[in-house]
Amino acid sequence: MRIFHLSAECYPVAKVGGLADVVGALPKYQTLAGHNAAVVMPFYDRKFTRENEFDTVFQGATLLGTRRLYFEILKEKTNKLGFELYLVKIPGLIDRENIYSYPDETEQFIAFQISFLDWISYSQQSPDIIHCHDHHSGLVPFLLQYSKLYTRLAKTPTVFTIHNGQYHGAFGWDKVGYLPEIDLTKAGLLDWSGGINPLASAVRCASKYTTVSPSYLEELTVNSNGLEFLFFIERAKGVGIINGIDTEVWNPATDPMIIEKFNAAKVAAGKQKNKEALCARFNLDPAKPLITFIGRLVVEKGADLLAEALETSLADFAGKVNFLILGAGEPQMEMDLQELKEKFPADTNVYIGYNEELAHLFYAGSDFLLMPSRVEPCGLNQLYSLRYGTMPMVRSTGGLKDTVIDFGDANGYGIRYNNTSVEDICYAISRAIVLFDDDKQLQTLRKRMMALDFSWDVSAKQYMELYHSLNTTTV
Ligand code: ADP
Ligand code: GLC
Repeated sequence: MRIFHLSAECYPVAKVGGLADVVGALPKYQTLAGHNAAVVMPFYDRKFTRENEFDTVFQGATLLGTRRLYFEILKEKTNKLGFELYLVKIPGLIDRENIYSYPDETEQFIAFQISFLDWISYSQQSPDIIHCHDHHSGLVPFLLQYSKLYTRLAKTPTVFTIHNGQYHGAFGWDKVGYLPEIDLTKAGLLDWSGGINPLASAVRCASKYTTVSPSYLEELTVNSNGLEFLFFIERAKGVGIINGIDTEVWNPATDPMIIEKFNAAKVAAGKQKNKEALCARFNLDPAKPLITFIGRLVVEKGADLLAEALETSLADFAGKVNFLILGAGEPQMEMDLQELKEKFPADTNVYIGYNEELAHLFYAGSDFLLMPSRVEPCGLNQLYSLRYGTMPMVRSTGGLKDTVIDFGDANGYGIRYNNTSVEDICYAISRAIVLFDDDKQLQTLRKRMMALDFSWDVSAKQYMELYHSLNTTTV
């Protein structure tokens, strides 16, 4: 099958969060399984694009309203990522460093989508599946079917995957002129609450939509930032497929970014060496349980509760636990955590920023990983931590609920709690501290975690089955 994945992020080209990890891994597994999978994303002026070579495979011109845009499609020369990588470059619009948050972001993502469609249309390509990820490519299913420019491709099956249903990419009808000529009798398929809503449109117009965990599919009907009714009525069209992890990138036995490589048989000694290195770097005590947090410092992740919960636990369990945070986000949350570090310098440290290499050392050297998420469509951190024998402490929501079993239950290996509250986080921390004292049980649980299989093998198959159900003409 010829598959195009459209995404704003892809590891290692450009990453903000888990979307990049998924789009950098799923096509690799599809290619290994004998399919012809490609990723198409906007061009960013970043390390990866500066350090690699590209061929210009197409040059075209398109219209964004009255503005004529010249675009290029660049292809990475060597396929070194394990799949074909194409970048859409538009001088002055899609050639900047950051992925998100420019004032003309709407124009950027519309231009990205129409350039892609123009390219495959003019170059007479006929993909078997177009797989769109999040709202940045959410207009493609509508445009394929209802813009007169792409009639030849109108029957191409599309899959739309929701990695984050909180962001819709909505914009006003005053910008409808940026879209290529559309069948106006179908314009209602673009609308939600009086605006153009790319996420809502994709849910309606894609052949199928998927969420990155089965629980999240249900949760969208009660919490999707205003789209609850849409998800309720379109429920039958949705499929929940849990993300896998790239077991080549995330492998404690071969990981070049950690201090001591280890497998399940050597987990106790291996983790201890990594913990010692981490503690030495952050002035912490490797004899104490080390609880870490990695992630975006935003309300969605429950990061607003971290400073208070950690301070409460440090008061309740004085001198018995260490905390270490790696993250960046809301300035207030960053400040609260910095203050916490100043108050408890012997037991807490904070790294504000994004650091891929350090994240690997955190997974390898921590005893526990805290994830107090309010919303977690899948969550990859808990899957990485399990692979490195680090016990996830998660709130029961979305993908966290689908992947972590409490160690108090049959075959369990994690800590789960129900509420995004300081009390529940502190209770989970108290359980971690008690468990840490029982080294025999902790080592048994670590071996159990490392034996779990969250590789892409299973999930990639589920996507292929879905594609085949939509496209009966190819195998
Ligand atoms: P989300 O995509 O919502 O942020 P996920 O759990 O799916 O959450 O994925 C987060 C990804 O981003 C993981 O690969 C995690 O290790 C990484 N990550 C998040 N924050 C940082 C950071 N500050 N430094 C390094 N890696 C980070
Ligand atoms: C989103 C979600 C996260 C998920 C990731 C990859 O960023 O917030 O839960 O793991 O996408 O699908």
